[in-house]
Amino acid sequence: MTQREVPLAPVRPAAPAESLGSLLVRRRSTRSFGPRPMSIDQITRVVWAAQGRTTGEHRSCPSAHALYPLTLTVISGNVDGLAAGAYQYDAERHALIPAARGDHRDRVAGTTLADHCWLRHAAALLLLSGDMDAATRHFADQPPHSRRGRRYVWLEAGHASQNVYLQAAEAGLGAVLVAGFDDDRLLGLSPAVVPAGRQPLALLGVGHPADAEG
Ligand SMILES: Cc1cc2nc3c(=O)[nH]c(=O)nc-3n(C[C@H](O)[C@H](O)[C@H](O)COP(=O)(O)O)c2cc1C
Repeated sequence: MTQREVPLAPVRPAAPAESLGSLLVRRRSTRSFGPRPMSIDQITRVVWAAQGRTTGEHRSCPSAHALYPLTLTVISGNVDGLAAGAYQYDAERHALIPAARGDHRDRVAGTTLADHCWLRHAAALLLLSGDMDAATRHFADQPPHSRRGRRYVWLEAGHASQNVYLQAAEAGLGAVLVAGFDDDRLLGLSPAVVPAGRQPLALLGVGHPADAEG
């Protein structure tokens, strides 16, 4: 049986209960996650913050020439209303496209250089990967030739990562950017995690912080 895509509810940002400045102050890297599941609404907001559409074809993140070369993979394991699995986020449809069944958090966290033991407890992992070849081709006329496009993709992954931190802070969730991973091991897992032709750029864990468990 093939898994159906998971349409996500539209995100309507509410009037902020907290200023952006306060969120920037509160944002912290969380490395201790509790067992409480995230809700589908929470993962929807986090995913939207990372790569969602806002007005027209624009997204939450700036993108050089509005190329949008990032792919966002959601590796869910402890999200109410979302079966454990790997999903690619389709920004245009605002939907999660199933790529693999089952809980892949442990295997993905196992590709990190030093963070496996705690990162595997995050309710979900978000992996940003980039189409470096497409960006290199697109920006081929900009010096330094054949390197400019890749730089832009890395910068965009940073924007998306900070958005995840801020959205997590607003929702009372914890988030962490783990960029220390073994590229080859990550690429070797499955195209469901890193789609063919993409370079892994950033891995984020999100979930309820252990110290916030009631
Ligand atoms: C490019 C980058 C790579 C990072 N890689 C890791 C990592 O591999 N493992 C980890 O635990 N934290 C990682 N972090 C998080 C930093 O360790 C963290 O931001 C720093 O300790 C400051 O703490 P704060 O985010 O709570 O302010 C990374 C952050 C950045 C910006």
